[in-house]
Amino acid sequence: MTLDELKREAAAEALKFVESGMRLGLGTGSTAKIFVDLLADRMNRENLQLLCVPTSEATRLQAQSVGIPLTTLDETPELDLAIDGADEIDPKLNLIKGGGAAHLREKIVEMAAKRFIVIADETKWVANLGKFPLPLECALFGLEATRRQLERAISSAGCSGELVLRLKASGEPLLTDGGNVILDAKLGLIPDPAQLATALDHVTGLVEHGLFIGMAERAILATSSGIRTVTL
Ligand code: A5P
Repeated sequence: MTLDELKREAAAEALKFVESGMRLGLGTGSTAKIFVDLLADRMNRENLQLLCVPTSEATRLQAQSVGIPLTTLDETPELDLAIDGADEIDPKLNLIKGGGAAHLREKIVEMAAKRFIVIADETKWVANLGKFPLPLECALFGLEATRRQLERAISSAGCSGELVLRLKASGEPLLTDGGNVILDAKLGLIPDPAQLATALDHVTGLVEHGLFIGMAERAILATSSGIRTVTL
């Protein structure tokens, strides 16, 4: 199976958790995009009543284009369920997210949801987080000072690695939906993700990091031999 086919399998499995009347958080990225398309199909087929909050402008545009009713967390601050992809998933269901630069809104939406299910193809499953560079969304103001604080926080959690400013194809710094920049931390291995998350939480100038600790209740992983579900 291709990666896209695996992503579709995971998204289709997650669709089974959606019920009419739910308030849903919609993720960002290629797997979440497939989920949003499948959700719209099922919503129309079964006349499901849904109210959804997107985690990015890209997902907002997609959801609007397929007719999914949208709201905001200001109007609907509590959600029943959020479904989203991830860049890495470890056996404790800790995640690295933000490869698509959307982890700030993703974390806000997923924290507002009673349940958060992560969907992915099997390549996202790892024994230890850290091979995927950890996205650190930072305020542009004082970036070099923030970088030094980040390096200290990272080192206090037993990690090290280069912090690379994420650029667009044009060579300019990529700006997130919130108008911030991203430093990608090439750590290789994060021995204790919870410890690193706590250290990063204390860095002023860091808007949000891409570690999602203890947030996902279930991972739906599509493998070439079928769906594998991991719960804690
Ligand atoms: C967006 O910022 C990310 O957190 C995505 O959820 C993550 O990068 C997974 O994306 P794919 O489904 O495209 O791999």
